[in-house]
Amino acid sequence: MVKKIILDCDPGHDDAIAMLLAHGNPNIELLAVTTVVGNQTLEKVTRNALAVARIANITGVPFAAGSARPLIRQVEIAPDIHGDSGLDGPVLPEPAFEVDSRHAVDLIIETIMSHPPKTVTIVPTAGLTNIALAARLEPRIVERVKEVVLMGGGYHVGNWSAVAEFNIKIDPEAAHIVFNEKWPLTMVGLDLTHQALATPDVVEKIRAVGTNPAKFVLELLEFFGTMYKSAQGFDYPPVHDPCAVAYVIDPSVMTTQKVPVDIELTGTLTLGMTVADFRSPPPADCHTQVAVKLDHQRFWDLVVDALERIGEVKI
Ligand code: RIB
Ligand code: CA
Repeated sequence: MVKKIILDCDPGHDDAIAMLLAHGNPNIELLAVTTVVGNQTLEKVTRNALAVARIANITGVPFAAGSARPLIRQVEIAPDIHGDSGLDGPVLPEPAFEVDSRHAVDLIIETIMSHPPKTVTIVPTAGLTNIALAARLEPRIVERVKEVVLMGGGYHVGNWSAVAEFNIKIDPEAAHIVFNEKWPLTMVGLDLTHQALATPDVVEKIRAVGTNPAKFVLELLEFFGTMYKSAQGFDYPPVHDPCAVAYVIDPSVMTTQKVPVDIELTGTLTLGMTVADFRSPPPADCHTQVAVKLDHQRFWDLVVDALERIGEVKI
């Protein structure tokens, strides 16, 4: 069955690969791409999203820019991982089309409300500012969406502090809103995405595709790998964001566990921590689950298959 998704992102190397996976997989219909400040400024990540659209020949999908700052806190960006442009490494083409005139939050709401109930999945791969604002501006979307599948958090590990992950830590109040709304929510956090390493065999499979979009991914992975090595000591880069898309395509590509998750807002050392309660059994009204174990080979096969289906794109 084809799954309709809204991808809310901050491209970002792994966000770009998430876009390609969503575009190239036949079981995903990309309804909208929305951007939010995160890996770089809103202006840069929006421009990057449009460049990726050109690289993969994504057409007929509205792209809209959203929040330029978090709900309460100052902007934090991640040039130590994604570079000055937010997508350093490849040479980026000029966009082939312009961003939609609507604010991302309006586009998210309009898209959900104009589709039948329980048919649209929101896939956030960035800070949750846009999604929190959408839930507050039009509360009916909470009942109406099928589910929220997000890349963010981590129940045992952090990367922006000892215990907090970037997408949650940069706007913890927004994350608190999103995790506490009663929609079904799957957290694809660092515990899972640190298993999605772009190992040498993966790189070779992508190289074998031989197209311009595949070459673009290789260039992304090369830069991402270097930065992850120097900033966080990884031998191979963890490619976080496409894991959330992969879950929507085929939930059996990872195991999940139903547990309540809440966001720490007041801890001096733990701000932005996704606190998961693994005591058993989970409460009957538990609406959150966390991703636990990835099938590495099947995940990367999905990415390679998407690149093969996208095929050659001349610019
Ligand atoms: O912590 C990983 C997340 O932060 C990913 O979404 C990546 O794009 C980075 O911004
Ligand atoms: Ca991201």
